[in-house]
Amino acid sequence: MTDTMTAIEKSAAGVRMEMSDGIALLRLDEPDKSVNTLSAPVIEAMRTILDRLESGEARAAVLLSDKPGVWIAGADIEQFTQFTSAADGERATREGHKLLNRLENLPIPVVAAIDGVALGGGVETALACTYRIAADTEKTRLGLPEVQLGLLPGAGGSQRLPRLVGIRAALDLMLTGKRLDPRRAKKIGLVDEVVPGADLESIAIRIAGELADGKREPRRGNRRGSPLALERLPGVKSFIIRKAREGVMAKTRGLYPAPLRILEVVDRGLDLPVEEALELEPPAFGELSVTPEARSLVHLFFATTGAKSDAGVEGDGKALARDVERLAIVGAGFMGAGIATASAEKGMRVRLKDITPENAAKGLRTAHESLVKRARRRKRPSHEIEALKGRVTATHEYTGFRRTELVVEAVFEDVELKHRVIREVEEAASEETVLGTNTSTIPIATLAEASSRPGNVIGLHFFSPVEKMPLLEIIVTPQTEDWVTATAHAYGKRIGKTPIVVNDAPGFYANRILTPYMAEALLLLEEGVRMEELDRAMKNWGFPVGPITLYDEVGLDVAHKAAAVMREAFGDRMEESSVLDRMVEDDRMGRKNGRGFFTYEDGKKGKPDESVYGLIGDPEPKEVPEADVQERLGLTMVNEAVRCLEDDVLRNPRDGDVGAVLGIGFPPFRGGPFWYVDRTGAEQVVARLRALESRFGRRFSPSARLVEMAEKGETFFEG
Ligand code: COA
Repeated sequence: MTDTMTAIEKSAAGVRMEMSDGIALLRLDEPDKSVNTLSAPVIEAMRTILDRLESGEARAAVLLSDKPGVWIAGADIEQFTQFTSAADGERATREGHKLLNRLENLPIPVVAAIDGVALGGGVETALACTYRIAADTEKTRLGLPEVQLGLLPGAGGSQRLPRLVGIRAALDLMLTGKRLDPRRAKKIGLVDEVVPGADLESIAIRIAGELADGKREPRRGNRRGSPLALERLPGVKSFIIRKAREGVMAKTRGLYPAPLRILEVVDRGLDLPVEEALELEPPAFGELSVTPEARSLVHLFFATTGAKSDAGVEGDGKALARDVERLAIVGAGFMGAGIATASAEKGMRVRLKDITPENAAKGLRTAHESLVKRARRRKRPSHEIEALKGRVTATHEYTGFRRTELVVEAVFEDVELKHRVIREVEEAASEETVLGTNTSTIPIATLAEASSRPGNVIGLHFFSPVEKMPLLEIIVTPQTEDWVTATAHAYGKRIGKTPIVVNDAPGFYANRILTPYMAEALLLLEEGVRMEELDRAMKNWGFPVGPITLYDEVGLDVAHKAAAVMREAFGDRMEESSVLDRMVEDDRMGRKNGRGFFTYEDGKKGKPDESVYGLIGDPEPKEVPEADVQERLGLTMVNEAVRCLEDDVLRNPRDGDVGAVLGIGFPPFRGGPFWYVDRTGAEQVVARLRALESRFGRRFSPSARLVEMAEKGETFFEG
């Protein structure tokens, strides 16, 4: 290392080049953006720098980012929305290839020094470097998320990654889009070294020097004994690809073209020299980029990031939000423990309160176990795990509440109980404490009646299991103060959720649109459609689980209660079926008591329980075309979503799409209910609803908004 830093030179926008003892430090920092992407200006800047490096200005180079938390977030996704034909996508990909081929073929070594996220084109840039080191920081993650956008890695990743880490590990990344922390990235060989964040730059410079001086050799993926060397053996590759394809089909039912295309390109590419293999990418990328699936998934990406940056208040949400460093949770059940885990992982201190010391201790144990399990998976050292556990403490009294910025009430769904808890919390907490209430059915205004500070009360509808589910539905009443909403939104984001802010009404948004969909499934069941057929039909439409299974998972008692609330509010169109009454009378609560629509053995779900048919009046088995089932369930949900917009529960269609996909598993490749209407055409949707209305009655009457849109030929989104 040396400190003979020469004058800082400005390159074109986005990349700065400094020289340090003959080593070029390339610093990425896209102006006026919160992330670095491989946008047109950055590519232009890189080209200029490559010209200079090719002409021998440096003996080695290090690629760094000055952007906190982000190395390179991949291609500029915005540009994908401009593609009007496959040729556009193909052309853009070829530009990327040219650039990264030049980087790979430089006569000098280049070290990728990764701090923050390296995603998509970010990882692909790193793959074109000679050596990769990653900072052991919280934000550092490496992944190829293109599949989640309906695309394939189009900047060489589909070919360079398997050659470096082997086919199996590469497919695991490319087919799931999962993001690896630095240690796991090292384990599979994606990065060569993991170093402390503070030392990243100095170590990168030292390594670059050693590589330039021939004192260190770059690691090659296809050395003897490497995963690739073994996986390329005759028969092995085809076995891996076949297994992977089976996995994809089981998971996606063939509804997503991208993973199948990835498999094809990897499979064929590995039989070719890398230069030729790379040629497979641009046409495949181009074709995928204009599929309806990719369009929907890209829409969802921007809908999600839009929801994350919109705190749901007038003015600057960021400025209004207050930091949450200490929070308390009342109710140490499964939900409370999950909220504690998610918060502690992001550095907050959590008091977990329950009514008895035993209950509190039980919740604490659940939270600790989950924290340890998840930290071990990330290969965190034991002292860190201990510190993490130390962030959650248990209590059966309201001690320590005064200093909390947020209290989340997560007790049983019972108005009186929640009222009492709200009063007790307000006694114990400060005037500045936000009171979040975790409910899925009780209107927030009803709960706020017990409060002496209703402006501080806000609904926080978490989805179970909290650690995994990506949505947080935030419910505001007319009294909720803006700083409270902004604080809840910022807290949601900090624990890794995508928040949507909705107005208070029975069922809020997610459960409201789920209710008629679930009810329709029961009506079909009473008509004689078999349980497994109902599940299969909706899985084939793209839901991750079918409605009958979902009933058992949610709990039939819970669903029964929620249905009653919804019927009271919207009785005129929520058709009544007696199936849930009968199931609950028969003590069937679903998975949790091992009795539901399905049989259970040792907690494992078995077959549909045939005795259910007897319970519901032995309907004559009936074959209904799958498309009819899908139409009845799918359209009733879409129609209800539009009503939520009409009724001002939703502030915009964007949140409706995000909430439906992230909250209840609406098929992502359909982009959400509102995007679905746009793609199908409001006129079509109305015509189909009218057809159902004439057969089954007014529960299918199209919403006024849809009818109006159909008449005027309008869409929810532009373009
Ligand atoms: N292209 C264009 N814009 C991008 C982007 C990309 N690759 N990655 C992020 N952005 C934008 C977001 O749209 C958002 O814009 P906004 O503030 O105008 O709403 C902004 O950058 C911040 O993103 P956000 O997700 O809100 O911030 P975060 O800190 O929570 O997460 C990332 C940052 C990079 C981890 C996340 O945005 C992400 O995963 N991006 C996807 C990357 C990807 O899929 N790359 C592969 C492309 S093929």
